Amino acid sequence: MNRAVHQPSNTVALALTGASGMQYGLRLLQCLLAAGTDVYLMVSKAARAVLAWELDMQLPGGGRAAADFLLQRCGTARGSLQIFAAEEWTAPLASGSSVPRAMVVCPCSMGTLSAIAVGSSENLVARAADVIIKERRQLILVPRETPFSAIHLRHMTTLAELGSVILAACPGFYHRPRTVEDVVDFIVARILDHLQVPHEIGMRWGQIDQTHNRSEGEQ
Ligand SMILES: Cc1cc2nc3c(=O)[nH]c(=O)nc-3n(C[C@H](O)[C@H](O)[C@H](O)COP(=O)(O)O)c2cc1C
Repeated sequence: MNRAVHQPSNTVALALTGASGMQYGLRLLQCLLAAGTDVYLMVSKAARAVLAWELDMQLPGGGRAAADFLLQRCGTARGSLQIFAAEEWTAPLASGSSVPRAMVVCPCSMGTLSAIAVGSSENLVARAADVIIKERRQLILVPRETPFSAIHLRHMTTLAELGSVILAACPGFYHRPRTVEDVVDFIVARILDHLQVPHEIGMRWGQIDQTHNRSEGEQ
């Protein structure tokens, strides 16, 4: 019998769910692919609605067509992109034997957050996160809601206690962002840091000229 040799995975699973903040998810996808990371992407039905609402983006229905559309939008892609449907239970993501090294839900709706916290596995996003938790890989959730109810906070506490990173979409403003892209990159840079994916986006505290509030090299 041929035994499979276990290779460390360079694959990151990314789920776009139906919270506001699609720009975070799309920018993260672009940075991951540009850095040579292979991405397994899931896009919930509600995420498609928010993509249309926030960015006028009509994502094609089929996996290959949607992947081609997003690859074109991302520009340079050194990594590969595979898209899986909500009930594609045969996807590698659904099994602990081919688990990606990390999973990010960005943006993360409160609905998906609660499904993950209770282990419902009701769709592929919740199942993939369940697998990530049981296999003790990295799970990063980027919730976007305000105010948080006690239900949201309890679910976040449960997930944080399980080792997940709750990286809320709460951009700082001390770097004096000038564009929406600057605000988006503040959050995406923190996610990439947690994933240990090299990047040159966003601005670190030490890079900010604290006397004149300008970045290094700026006139
Ligand atoms: C334009 C729009 C914005 C939304 N923003 C949020 C949000 O910021 N946070 C949230 O938890 N739900 C938000 N929702 C509601 C979710 O999309 C809804 O609860 C959905 O069932 C989530 O499904 P999913 O988790 O499978 O993606 C929004 C819906 C729409 C249409």
